[in-house]
This record gives sequence, structure tokens and C-alpha cells, in this order.
Amino acid sequence: MGKLKIGVFGAHRGMTMIHQLLNNPDAEVTAICDKYRPSLDAAGKTAEDAGLKVALFERFDDFFACDMDAVVLANYAHEHAKFAVPILKSGRHVMSEVLTCANLAEAVALIEAVEETGKIYQYAENYCFFNTTAEMRRLYKAGDIGELMYAEGEYIHDCASIWPQITYGERDHWRNRDCATFYCTHSLGPILHATGLRPIRVAGLEGQEKEFMIKLGARAGSFGIEMVTLENGAIVKSIHGGLKREPGSINYEMYGTRGSMETDRWDGNLHVWRETTGNCVGEHEKYAPSFSLDGAAGTGHGGSDFFTTHYFVRSILGDEDAKKEAVDVYEAVDMCIPGNLAYRSIIGDGHALEVPNLRLKEERDKYRNDTFCCFEEAAGEMYVSSTAAQWEQPVIGDEVYEEVRRKWLAGEPG
Ligand SMILES: NC(=O)c1ccc[n+]([C@@H]2O[C@H](COP(=O)([O-])OP(=O)(O)OC[C@H]3O[C@@H](n4cnc5c(N)ncnc54)[C@H](O)[C@@H]3O)[C@@H](O)[C@H]2O)c1
Repeated sequence: MGKLKIGVFGAHRGMTMIHQLLNNPDAEVTAICDKYRPSLDAAGKTAEDAGLKVALFERFDDFFACDMDAVVLANYAHEHAKFAVPILKSGRHVMSEVLTCANLAEAVALIEAVEETGKIYQYAENYCFFNTTAEMRRLYKAGDIGELMYAEGEYIHDCASIWPQITYGERDHWRNRDCATFYCTHSLGPILHATGLRPIRVAGLEGQEKEFMIKLGARAGSFGIEMVTLENGAIVKSIHGGLKREPGSINYEMYGTRGSMETDRWDGNLHVWRETTGNCVGEHEKYAPSFSLDGAAGTGHGGSDFFTTHYFVRSILGDEDAKKEAVDVYEAVDMCIPGNLAYRSIIGDGHALEVPNLRLKEERDKYRNDTFCCFEEAAGEMYVSSTAAQWEQPVIGDEVYEEVRRKWLAGEPG
């Protein structure tokens, strides 16, 4: 059997997966799609320079029609399920970038497409695979801190300086109109993956948008918080968004019945405290965990980008260990839908809402037509604006987007 033929949809972030696949023993990139020709050509050149023959497409329909075993979705963050469903139904495996889906109706459709087709769906929530977060998962499963009581996940990334390069001056780019709680899986995901616990309730909070982002065309709260209750009663605070701190803050902490562990906020180490001989008596350990596999060190996002592509290819080949490590469709939905529900909570005065368990068929009908979200084209009649009512929705003139576009083309920071 020859190598698996992988198509990459979206040639910006998709370049990461293209790089990861250049020297893969079992898979190769055979097709790339992006409507933006310069990115498409740059991706094609990278593949060609590595000796690969790759078909390039500007239109998704042409890409879809070509011969591929699997597709990496690195297109717009709110359009992953929309494309994943037809790709799965055409008999291909899917690895999806973040986020999983735009709304709960899409979550149901995605799960059912995976169940019907039996194809591999893997969620590329790479933050689960840092040396630190992967170690937290290993230690949690080994029982080092007992049962989870409370956790925090934090993804603080002020994108103001790169806004022109990631929104291109497009008024309706998803980054300009996603609500504050949409991008929740980098902060919540690693806690769920480490513990294997399911979210059952969520309440949300929205940080007020400030002038420095309005000037760049963003139309939503600057950060979001989800307060999530897990199935065992543990509580997680998930916070993400644009606050002032360099480098950005990617941090996790977990408190259990017998100890705690947390990433160091500045130096990349992991701290573990284990209770030993009695209440409040224990030992503190601080170290930089090593990666579980060779090949990760030096790859993007602190080595985590290696694992998502690696597990995807290995899962397609039937490697059961890889499947256990990867994030499947149910976990992907668990990581994502608290963000959508948290936004309803914000609009509804902060009441906590139930997070459905969409593994259960009987829980699906209630959400099958639930298109509530802030992306008009996916929401239809359930559309809500991306800033909750308590803040004034900024009205942003075309001149703002023209200026951002100018900066993008000139390579200037925001
Ligand atoms: N996991 C991570 O660490 C990480 C980091 C960066 C981005 N991302 C994710 O990667 C995805 C892509 O983000 P990005 O930063 O590349 O920016 P983006 O969302 O602007 O890029 C999407 C790319 O897909 C192309 N595209 C979108 N729809 C298309 C269509 N219908 N036909 C042809 N081409 C189309 C666009 O031209 C663009 O180049 C997003 O989902 C984002 O959340 C994840």
C-alpha cells in the first residue's frame, strides 16, 4: 500500500500540517486548497521543494473532487463542521483545526456523520499535547493528585499587533465577529483531556471590548470566561482572549483531593504538589517534563503541533494507542459547545445552562435545529450579535477595515 494521500484545506495555518507531513513515513500531502493565491502558491512551493507533487486548488469543490484519503481542515474557525460533514460522507477521514463547530446543530450533525461513516475524526486541539499538559494527563490518570476538585485553563493572547496579518481587513472575518466565549478550547480542552471528565453546566462572562481592538475592526468582548461544572462536581474556570501580557499566557492548574499541579506562569516548568503522610503534609516537585515521543521537540506551539498530525495518521492506520491519545469527536464537542452555551448565559443574565451529552442519541433532538450563534450565515433566525447587550455594539466604519487592509498588504503591525 502506498502512502496515505492527505489534502490540506486552508494554506495559512495549514502550512504547519504541511510541514509536519513532509517527512512522514506513512502519509503525504497530495492536494492543497486556498482561495488566496499567494498562500496557495507558497504552500505548493514548500511541498515541491520537498520533492512532492501536489495539486493546487482555489475552489473547494475542485479540491473535494480530487483523490484523497483524508483532509486537514485549516480553514475559517467557524466553518469546520460545515465542511467536515460532507468530507466524512464522501468516505474521507478528517482532522479539524479549532474550533469544532459554530453551533449545537452542527455539533449534532458532525457526531452523526462520524457515527454513520465510521471514519476517523480527530480534533487538532494541540494545547492538550504540550510537554506540560500531556504530563498533567499522565499524572492525573496515574492518580497523583486524586480526584479533580477545581481547575483553571488560561489562553491569553493579545493579537492586536498581528491583527492585520490575521484578518486581512475583512469586515466579516470570523476573528472580527466571534463572540468572547467562542474560542474556548485552548483553555478548557487540556483540562477535559487530562481528566476525561465531561462538562455538564456552564455560566459565562464577557470582558468589555476596549478601544485598541475596536480601532482594528474587532466587534466583540475582549475576553471570555466560562465557569464550567464537570460531571463529578469539579469546577473549571476557562479564560481566553486579548489581555495585555507578553508573551501571552498559556497556563493550567488542577487541584485534586490529594494534591495539585500547575504550569509555571513564566518559566515553562510544571509544579506538582502531592500530599503524602496526612492532611497538608506533602512534597513539591518542579521540573520540565519531556515529550512522550521523539520528533516533537522544536515543532510549532511548544512541540504540540507534532502530536496532532502524528496521532491522526497513526489512527487512520489503526493504531489503537494513537486513538486513545487523540481527541475524538465527542471530546471535541465537549470542549467547544460550552463556549456557545456560555454566550447564551451572558445574554441571559449569567444563569448557568446545561451542557448536553451528545453521545446520547436521546439528547440530540433538542439541539438538532439549534443554530444559535453570532455567525449570521450559520445562525439563520437564531443569529445574535457578537457583543452582548450590556455593552454597546461598536459601529465600525469601512475606513477602519481599509486601514487594516493597507497595513496587511504593507506588512505593518496593528
Ligand atoms: N491550534 C492552533 O494553535 C492554531 C493556530 C492558528 C490558527 N488556528 C486555526 O486554524 C484555522 C485557520 O486560521 P488561520 O490563522 O490560518 O486564519 P484564517 O482563518 O484567516 O485562514 C483560513 C484560510 O483558509 C482559506 N479559506 C477559508 N475558506 C475558504 C474557502 N471556502 N475556499 C478556499 N479557501 C478558503 C483562507 O483564504 C485562509 O487562507 C482557524 O480555524 C484557526 O482557529 C489554530
